[in-house]
Amino acid sequence: MDVELRAVTEENFRDVVNLEVRPEQAGFVAPNVRGIAETYIYPGAEPRAVYAGDELVGFVLLHPGDRPGEHLLVRLMIDHRFQGRGLGRAALEAAVDHVVREHKAESVRLSFVPSNERARALYLSAGFVETGEVDEGETVMVRAIPKG
Ligand SMILES: CC(C)(COP(=O)(O)OP(=O)(O)OC[C@H]1O[C@@H](n2cnc3c(N)ncnc32)[C@H](O)[C@@H]1OP(=O)(O)O)[C@@H](O)C(=O)NCCC(=O)NCCS
Repeated sequence: MDVELRAVTEENFRDVVNLEVRPEQAGFVAPNVRGIAETYIYPGAEPRAVYAGDELVGFVLLHPGDRPGEHLLVRLMIDHRFQGRGLGRAALEAAVDHVVREHKAESVRLSFVPSNERARALYLSAGFVETGEVDEGETVMVRAIPKG
């Protein structure tokens, strides 16, 4: 399943804001409107709409990390209508590819609510490893990008 990350624009802004996770997942990720608002405060933040073909299916938010060479995947969500089809995995890989290509990232860091087993399974199988850190109650994982 292939996805494309596209800018959030005047055209797709409302649709991105209207994307929703399942009700029981609401505690796992902030609403997309907040992610977009954060880009006003943090100029380095990159919000991206996730498309499968021409269908808008999700949202990611990327941000440079504090450590040299590190990038953060601040948000990842796939709308409830499109979950379980491999799109979350594809969006994750597209986000990693983006920061490697555009920012020469050497590692990608993220965190998740510890009870979010689905996210944990996805990140583990995608090569992320737990650092042992807890950030505001969330489990921290990092994936190192091989050089070359
Ligand atoms: C987490 C999320 C992005 C995954 O997206 P998705 O499109 O549903 O996931 P995929 O179909 O790509 O599946 C990826 C992996 O998730 C796990 N997974 C998928 N469906 C699952 C289910 N019903 N139960 C448990 N794990 C599941 C599996 O490990 C799967 O790997 P596989 O491809 O080997 O089966 C999505 O469920 C979501 O938006 N959740 C709410 C927001 C959230 O939790 N975001 C992450 C915050 S850090």
